[in-house]
Amino acid sequence: MATERVFNDPLGEWKRSCYCGEPRANAVGNELILFGWVHSRRDHGGVIFVDLRDRTGLCQVVFNPEIDAASHERAKQIRSEDVIGVRGSLAKRTAETINPNLPTGEVEVIAKEIKLLNASQVPPFIIDDETDANENTRHKYRYLDLRRPQSLGHLLLRYRMTKLIRDYLDGLGFIDVETPVLTKSTPEGAREYLVPSRIYPGKFYALPQSPQLFKQILMVGGLDRYFQIVKCFRDEDLRADRQPEFTQLDMEMSFVQPEDVMQVIEGMIALLFKELKGFEVKRPFPRLTYEEAMNRFGSDKPDMRFGLELKDFSPALGNCQARVFAATLQKGGVVKGICVPKGGEMSRKDLDDLTPFVATFGAKGLAWTKIAADGWQSPIAKFLSAEEQKEVERIAGAQVGDAILFSADTAKIVHDALGNLRLHLGGKLGLIPENEFALVWIVDFPLMEFDPAEKRYVALHHPFTAPLEEDLHLLDSDPTKVRSKAYDLALNGTEAGGGSIRIHQVELQKKILGMMGIGAEEAEARFGFLLEALTFGAPPHGGIAFGIDRLAMLLSGAKSLRDVIAFPKSQRAVCMLTDAPFPVDAKQLRELGIRTTAKE
Ligand code: AMO
Ligand code: AMP
Repeated sequence: MATERVFNDPLGEWKRSCYCGEPRANAVGNELILFGWVHSRRDHGGVIFVDLRDRTGLCQVVFNPEIDAASHERAKQIRSEDVIGVRGSLAKRTAETINPNLPTGEVEVIAKEIKLLNASQVPPFIIDDETDANENTRHKYRYLDLRRPQSLGHLLLRYRMTKLIRDYLDGLGFIDVETPVLTKSTPEGAREYLVPSRIYPGKFYALPQSPQLFKQILMVGGLDRYFQIVKCFRDEDLRADRQPEFTQLDMEMSFVQPEDVMQVIEGMIALLFKELKGFEVKRPFPRLTYEEAMNRFGSDKPDMRFGLELKDFSPALGNCQARVFAATLQKGGVVKGICVPKGGEMSRKDLDDLTPFVATFGAKGLAWTKIAADGWQSPIAKFLSAEEQKEVERIAGAQVGDAILFSADTAKIVHDALGNLRLHLGGKLGLIPENEFALVWIVDFPLMEFDPAEKRYVALHHPFTAPLEEDLHLLDSDPTKVRSKAYDLALNGTEAGGGSIRIHQVELQKKILGMMGIGAEEAEARFGFLLEALTFGAPPHGGIAFGIDRLAMLLSGAKSLRDVIAFPKSQRAVCMLTDAPFPVDAKQLRELGIRTTAKE
């Protein structure tokens, strides 16, 4: 839509004196040139006030016909989001017009000349922290959205964060090395993005899910300490904390144990919190084994900001008359639960409504009891003896007025269901403090678990993770009992980073790949370059990778990863600005030797 207002003054000799957010009372009397966007314009019959905005903030500009009639006349034309330049002198505002909410609120620029540089259409939404636009609209017009202080603030925080990280790691002797984007499959467990090769029709590059194998090969190359802030690509189902392309802080070190990697990271995280939040985190960070995390929180990335821990009632209920419990225990399952303080106030409906919630995690039911002064109020009360009830209360640490929720099933289902129920109740009951940061290392992950669907073992971290030496003897007899040298850092219930010490000996690596159903031939075809590199003096090595987007989200308090990414993908993996992905023309496909089966 063409605008009829003609705004094409040349910049000419004008040089900006300072940003809009900078003028202060100590510069009163100075002659200034400011450039920016018209945030608002108020015409007070005679005098026109304009709030001029740039990335640093706002400055009030006054067009007074008695000072300069020509610029006042021209200022009548301007509208929100027009780009202008102003020359004028800085004046102190009168006492009653001082704006204490604005850093520049004590001063204003008395305009003597205006340049109308470019006109703007009426913007589709309000450009301020309080905006009326939905997220898709904001991302379609991301350049307008970025003019909002909050959006810009998120990117600034992200920039300060990566700058601090680079300087910190540089100080510790880490070297930033770039690894390829057009590469070969890297097994991190997600689906890959493929790029067809024109020169080799029918062959494809894969975009890296992470630089995992390259960084290991850099260690074989003697780099010793590597890092990279790098784009990774995973074609997985999206959530608030997942993007198809995201950024990792990727690191690797030689001749180290888990403790060494964790020390480097703790120093870095403490620095980020101190510099970006003014918050001193206690070191060392708490540590939980995977087993303890699952048992107590039903999660390998527990949110440690609140209680509601899982309690194991199995020992108390082995002989009870409640059929679901006894039968589950006989089959080797568990009966666990959560004690909800003051849960007695929940209605029967509130309690019953939790059953469909846990059902989404595979739980077949959710039994409950309220602890009243005169005993249990519960559909299952009659099936438990007085001793059994007392023992359950003791294990739960329950008081009169509380409620206990029970899940009976395999440990896996119970942990998943109660772990998620814990988060759900924590939110619903307002138990999760905001502005608190709970960091925890999870260590001693199992090396592999059995995937019944695929009928093979799969790595919990990735197949290059080293087993704990003390568990090596179980590798043949009881592989799922083998723990690994893997570690994750959880922050407020989000997996912020994860890594491991790697296998650096080729025989063990081949064996582990074999156990995961990757036979010698396939291993050779997929990772032959790594296996070969391991035979040329690979040092013991290990590392970690952090989700930069996730860290920026957690540190900025943003609600979604999309807020801390300049040009994010929507929840349906679309770039709202460019409209990618998009169809390509037939000629391009022919060149690539590709025909699509998708309907128009
Ligand atoms: P992992 O797969 O655990 O490890 O990834 C490391 C970190 O990357 C972040 N992350 C994501 N962030 C946003 N969107 C996604 N889709 C996404 N997927 C992962 C998480 C996660 O903790 N090569 C190993 C690291 C290593 O072993 O050193 C790896 O990639 O914050
Ligand atoms: P039912 O015997 O199916 O009528 O269930 C009696 C109570 O036990 C109900 O409150 C169910 O929600 C609950 N329940 C059923 N199966 C389970 C289970 N596997 N774990 C926990 N509670 C269950």
